[in-house]
Amino acid sequence: MEKYIINGGYKLSGEISIQGAKNSVLPILAATVISGGTSIVSNIPKLRDVDMMVKILSSLGADVSLEGDVLVINSSQINKIEVPEELVREMRSSIIIMGAMLARFGEVKIAFPGGCEIGPRPIDLHLKSLRQMGAVIEEAHGFLDCKTTGLKGCEIQLDYPSVGATENIMLAAVTAEGVTTIRNAAREPEIIDLQHYLNEAGARVVGAGTSIITIEGVESLNDCNHRIIPDRIVAGTYMTAAAITKGEIIVKDIITDHLLSIIAKLREAGAIIYANGSALKVIGPNKLYALEMLQTLPYPGFPTDMQAQLMALLTIANGTSIVNETIFENRFKHAEELTRMGASIKTFGKVAVVKGVKELTGAKVSAKDLRGGAALVLAGLVAQGTTEIENIYHINRGYESMEENLNKLGANIKTIK
Ligand code: UD1
Repeated sequence: MEKYIINGGYKLSGEISIQGAKNSVLPILAATVISGGTSIVSNIPKLRDVDMMVKILSSLGADVSLEGDVLVINSSQINKIEVPEELVREMRSSIIIMGAMLARFGEVKIAFPGGCEIGPRPIDLHLKSLRQMGAVIEEAHGFLDCKTTGLKGCEIQLDYPSVGATENIMLAAVTAEGVTTIRNAAREPEIIDLQHYLNEAGARVVGAGTSIITIEGVESLNDCNHRIIPDRIVAGTYMTAAAITKGEIIVKDIITDHLLSIIAKLREAGAIIYANGSALKVIGPNKLYALEMLQTLPYPGFPTDMQAQLMALLTIANGTSIVNETIFENRFKHAEELTRMGASIKTFGKVAVVKGVKELTGAKVSAKDLRGGAALVLAGLVAQGTTEIENIYHINRGYESMEENLNKLGANIKTIK
């Protein structure tokens, strides 16, 4: 098992270019199934989750090749309708393949994705919506057997603006008969990116980025070329790294608009941030301030995927902060690990109270999930002495070359086996 060893206390400085967004790549790769032709997708980050989705596509029979950061996917030869169970278990978001397979073949068999490190993560909204569109889904022996004689457009009112459910419906609806309207749709930038890809391939989707998305079914999709948007969570993580180390870095190749809630909270905590086109300069303050309330919400609220990293910062802020995680249950596993490093955190269900301490101290800790792992890296960058982080495979699911990037910025971090 690989571990990170971090010697803390170095201020970060320099520039970093931000990778493509994991949460855009996954649904777009699933979408490449629909056309039965060739999709060329660029700005692909090198990540374990992306490898998983490529494995899923290949296991179904697609021809996938990677050159630099460009994936070429030809889905014409797909000849299987069963998604291998071990791949679904590895990556829960593989459920996104359902909508695409139903759109292309009217059939898919997939293992029921279990719970994961950050809570039970049900898929009831996905299933209810696909059923509403005419899919017959049987749940037996841990598998979902989905069939349809033809999906039909309809009005779908989501009980909650689920990102995955919104994407699954969009994929199922692009070649369905008639018009599908999703109300209370998720508004995340990755949904807009999916709309762009689909429309580049000949779909008729409007409204992504708002709560109402309308999809007018078309006969089929065409070959297309698409570039993935920058990863706002990776950008936010490096911005937090600058703030926590009292450093000064320039984060390049980003879309500032996608980062406004993160910028607002980092500024509230004392960071100085200048925006200039597709770059941001982040200067860490001498003194960090506690946040009266850090509440995670669906976009454009503060992202749950940045909660852990901000919590790491708040552990050494001046005063007491309240963190309210409203999206996922059980997303405070990093709190216990941060406490091992000297943080003072008490959790009560979905609320954490973080009392700022003078300094963190290096310790042996364990990454329990992707973003929680990133939070431990941030804490390690500023802790006195050496921090050892186990289970860094979680971090590699979402961050490309994190060690190399941080060392280039002046950190002292290495991987050991
Ligand atoms: C996506 C992101 C993830 C991010 C999350 C919230 C990807 C690959 N992952 O996950 O990084 O943290 O959005 O921004 O894009 N829910 C239900 N029933 C459902 C679906 C969801 O109850 O059918 C609940 C979930 O348990 C959770 C909440 O809704 O509490 C949000 O989930 P959702 O927006 O669906 O997140 P994901 O698409 O899984």
